[in-house]
Amino acid sequence: MSNEQPYIVWTEELKTDFPTIDIQHKKIIDIANNLHSSLGSDNLQELIKTHLSQLKIYSAVHFRFEEKILQNHNYFLLNEHECLHDAFVGELIKLEERFSELENKFPRILTYKEIESFSWEILNFVSKWWLHHILVEDKKYLDFLQKIADTYDSGN
Ligand SMILES: [Fe+2]
Repeated sequence: MSNEQPYIVWTEELKTDFPTIDIQHKKIIDIANNLHSSLGSDNLQELIKTHLSQLKIYSAVHFRFEEKILQNHNYFLLNEHECLHDAFVGELIKLEERFSELENKFPRILTYKEIESFSWEILNFVSKWWLHHILVEDKKYLDFLQKIADTYDSGN
């Protein structure tokens, strides 16, 4: 297992101009990768809940941090960006609710296949969402901040 590539691979193109934001993005990717490494574990059912909760809490911390920076720079798409952040947390809450419904719905124990396929649903969603968010949505504010810096540098 330890020789395997992580599920979400960090690449240079995911880098922003903010080292703290990069550390936070990496931490979120690590949580998803840890869930991926948990596939096959006996206690996957419990681990799904732990990882969903970690993703929710840690993403919220990161989002507030990023939004503060954007607010300080009067980012013109701040509201739109905040909505994207809130929607991600909302989707995680929906996944948590659906998983708990699944656990309580049947008068029987969930099969491993069901638990595993739910894990894959989380992993697919989280990886797609974050890669798109960093490469497309966060890129928009990076371009904006770069433009401000260029204007400042040229003395305008
Ligand atoms: Fe963001």
